[in-house]
Amino acid sequence: MASNKSIRVRVDQAKCQGHNRCHRIAPTLFELDELGHSREIGGGEVPAGLEQKALLARANCPEFAIEIIEE
Ligand code: F3S
Repeated sequence: MASNKSIRVRVDQAKCQGHNRCHRIAPTLFELDELGHSREIGGGEVPAGLEQKALLARANCPEFAIEIIEE
């Protein structure tokens, strides 16, 4: 069953080392800057249906740089 909660993603710039897994898993949620570091797209809002991708991206970041914020 779908949850009514919306979530946002946030990349901790101090932790991100540019492993790029997040962008490969969820290219509509994360973009890379000129140094290959990730940042959330559009304020980090996760559209309905992409929640699992957001969770997968967080789980696959070796630097634990991705935070999920429930709203
Ligand atoms: Fe950075 Fe982690 Fe993505 S290190 S590029 S936030 S996989």
